[in-house]
Amino acid sequence: MQVIKYVFQPHGDARGQLIALEELRDIPFRIRRVYYMYDTGEGVVRGKHAHKSLEQILVCIHGSCKVRLDNGQEQKIVPLEKPYEGLYVGSNMWREMFDFSPDAVLMVLASELYDEADYVRSYEDFLNMVQESKNANEEQG
Ligand code: TYD
Repeated sequence: MQVIKYVFQPHGDARGQLIALEELRDIPFRIRRVYYMYDTGEGVVRGKHAHKSLEQILVCIHGSCKVRLDNGQEQKIVPLEKPYEGLYVGSNMWREMFDFSPDAVLMVLASELYDEADYVRSYEDFLNMVQESKNANEEQG
């Protein structure tokens, strides 16, 4: 399973660092939504869902957390602990965010507006969806 991590270019000078993220330049899709999580309690696991078509980039802009990615066959745990790193999470990927430091701010850039219909919240449904798309790909040859 391929993990796609972006390393953004900081514009640093004597005053400190600045990162700019532009759609279709630094981010591989049009950014239609930004949300962020903070004050996440100890031991909390967020996410626990997949998306049918949404693409996202996760940036832990302060503190640290971990992301478990699961494509239905393989799992990878990706630590996010630098404000200049972005993790790409495409559709058909189960994700869980955990191990948040008390000061963590996890920002998410998303390719679409919030749409509950795009969520797959049951792991069993996710595995079925992965299997269906595999079957469809094999039929196409
Ligand atoms: P939820 O999906 O539980 O977050 P996570 O995936 O991190 O576990 O979302 C928490 C609440 O926020 C829920 O009531 C839906 C709402 N929400 C929005 O209104 N807009 C959004 O863009 C997102 C991601 C969530």
